[in-house]
Amino acid sequence: MDNVFYRNLNRSYLEIDRGEGIYLYDTHGNRYIDACAGAAVANLGHAHPRIIEAMVQQANKVVFSHLSRWTSAPIKELADLVAKLAPGSLNKLYLVSGGSEATEAALKMARQYFLERDGKSGKYRIISRWKSFHGNTIGALSMTGDKRRKKYVPLLLDFPHIAPAYCYRCPFEKKQENCSVECALDLERVVKMEGAENVAAFIAESVGGAACGAIVPPADYFKIIRQICDHYDILLIDDEVMAGFGRTGTMFSIEDWEVIPDLICVAKGMSAGYAPLGGVIAQEEIYNTFKQGSGSFVHGHTYGGNPLSAAVAVAVVKTLVDDGLVANSRLVGAYLLRELKEKLSPFWYVGDVRGKGMMLGVELVKDKVTKEPFLVSLGVAEKLTQTLIKHGVIVYPGTGNADGENGDQFLLAPPLTMTIQQAEELVAAMVAGFAEFEKKIAFMKY
Ligand SMILES: Cc1ncc(COP(=O)(O)O)c(C=O)c1O
Repeated sequence: MDNVFYRNLNRSYLEIDRGEGIYLYDTHGNRYIDACAGAAVANLGHAHPRIIEAMVQQANKVVFSHLSRWTSAPIKELADLVAKLAPGSLNKLYLVSGGSEATEAALKMARQYFLERDGKSGKYRIISRWKSFHGNTIGALSMTGDKRRKKYVPLLLDFPHIAPAYCYRCPFEKKQENCSVECALDLERVVKMEGAENVAAFIAESVGGAACGAIVPPADYFKIIRQICDHYDILLIDDEVMAGFGRTGTMFSIEDWEVIPDLICVAKGMSAGYAPLGGVIAQEEIYNTFKQGSGSFVHGHTYGGNPLSAAVAVAVVKTLVDDGLVANSRLVGAYLLRELKEKLSPFWYVGDVRGKGMMLGVELVKDKVTKEPFLVSLGVAEKLTQTLIKHGVIVYPGTGNADGENGDQFLLAPPLTMTIQQAEELVAAMVAGFAEFEKKIAFMKY
């Protein structure tokens, strides 16, 4: 027993020793494929020499300076890089230390934008979706639409949620053939119910991550969402904390929907786990409204935009570009999706294999035809994860997909540096793990 207050007090944790490329090693010398890059974070894999070099160089100069007084070469370089890569006029980077801080910042930025623009404004509510995850702090959790919020409901802001874009379990019971993208139109319904004069923004993950296992909205989804936002004067916040910086096969995931959001939240992939960092990328128009208005956005967090994290992020983003890792994410991701669909779908307990680029999800069901989930009390996602660990693969499990309680899935989000050979190794290990698990749960089959 140690004195660490872990998240799960009844689980025995693996103890990390070191990492190298896509592999992690525990203190017993066992090797694992980091098939979820932690939580879709370590996008360049572990111990990347270029990033370590950048860290050491910056550490030898200065590690910390506070954003209230100082700027630094690394934050300016990072903001320039991001402005070049982000779509449209999303050119201004507000720096924080992580994903929850980014979505919190976006929430407040949206509220303040309307105050700056219109003087008095009643626009403050943020609409989000069920089966979403936007972080664990109170504002972020208020926007989050999954079971992580339940225990804290009395503390949360009363923000509305719309239906998820969840084709496997379409909330409107449509099939691909007769899909009319009702899930996007749901936004208009809720805006009308709430009153557009009360709504500041709509926030959504471009590809759903931690709460749902890589659900990909239909092709027209974000175009319709953008039109509704424009019509009702509502900002569109694109939460790319997980999907951004190449994870789904484009630099920013929203590019695939050919839509330009007003704010993009970023974190994980921007510094690839080498240092904590997050940010909100804002349209020029929003930035100018602040500049010509009160001239400040007082939302700083102590560590936000420290020079060390920023220097790391500069090296990470340059590596992504120089090494063609976004294209690799598309290529190896497509290979993984094809292989996993072919090789995992035959297992009786696999309901869906999905995703985009290197953000992939597998949903587990008790009955393929009816899509009935396993009861959450059976702990199927966690047990499968434990079996896969025995086969040297670490995945990111989750529950609650089907009805907010039951419904198991896991996320696969390997480092974007993964080669096709390594992807073959991953698929083989997963198939072996799934076969072993099939024997273990034979008694659960109808
Ligand atoms: C889409 C999204 N938004 C926000 C967050 C919260 O980020 P953090 O854990 O860095 O606070 C996450 C974390 O998984 C995420 O996936």
